[in-house]
Amino acid sequence: MKRLEGKVAIVTGGGGGIGSATALRLANEGAKVVCADINLQAAERAAAALGGNGLAVWFDAADAASIGAMVDQTVQHFGRLDILHNNTAITDPETHGQDLSLLDIPLEVWRKTLDVNLTGYMLSCRFAIAHMIKTGGGSIINTASGSGLRGDRVRIAYGTSKAAVINMTRYIAAQYGREGVRCNAIAPGVIVTPAMRATAPDILAIARHYVLTPRLGTPEDIAALTAFLASDESGYITGECIEINGGKNSCQPHYAEANLHPTGKESTP
Ligand SMILES: NC(=O)c1ccc[n+]([C@@H]2O[C@H](COP(=O)([O-])OP(=O)(O)OC[C@H]3O[C@@H](n4cnc5c(N)ncnc54)[C@H](O)[C@@H]3O)[C@@H](O)[C@H]2O)c1
Repeated sequence: MKRLEGKVAIVTGGGGGIGSATALRLANEGAKVVCADINLQAAERAAAALGGNGLAVWFDAADAASIGAMVDQTVQHFGRLDILHNNTAITDPETHGQDLSLLDIPLEVWRKTLDVNLTGYMLSCRFAIAHMIKTGGGSIINTASGSGLRGDRVRIAYGTSKAAVINMTRYIAAQYGREGVRCNAIAPGVIVTPAMRATAPDILAIARHYVLTPRLGTPEDIAALTAFLASDESGYITGECIEINGGKNSCQPHYAEANLHPTGKESTP
């Protein structure tokens, strides 16, 4: 028997790079999966790859009513809800491009980022947990980011939203753990998605210098971790934030940068 057989999952941002890979992985492990996204065409493409085990649903993470409708539609269509992978984020270059430092970020960009990346996660957890506790529990996996664990010179709103997601995860784990709901966060480092290749090839090139693995991360790496956290195999893990970044923060790169690296090998994208 597959480890997610009989379970029903929602993947938000399910039309995107990481979301569509995760939806496929969860379905391959036996789950029925809703691919939920503001980009309905992308969600439909991702759901079509899952055959009869997939359903595309439009929603806007900034609109509470549409989040409630997404959860209701899932339960109506597949009969229950066991897994929520909150994975949406504002990643469009126009908004990201204005998310700079404290003194120059437009207030509307700050508010929009927190609204989608944080309040959207809070609301989908709220609607999902109401169903999960009726059937004995479930597993929530919130996509945070390394940006939620450290500072940077840009993206103050994005990083703040991801930091808040990490602590909200601990609160949810604490408040609903005894009712069978586990809640964990994952914090990816640089992951090679189509969007990253298109909009930030420079980031990929820089990241290659800092990871300790022979390659950069892929959406499938995130999907594998999410599937484990969704499954009963991780039944004693809750309230955690797991980094998945090729060991990027486990070394200081100074000597390698000074060309004293013993092999000189670099990671490939
Ligand atoms: N790719 C990386 O290197 C990386 C690193 C750290 C964290 N992350 C996180 O991983 C998650 C997925 O990122 P990705 O790289 O696959 O990006 P992506 O842009 O491919 O996916 C994001 C998805 O969210 C959807 N979305 C955006 N706004 C929405 C809204 N208001 N309502 C509903 N859906 C909305 C988009 O349409 C898109 O399909 C994000 O939470 C991101 O912050 C990614």
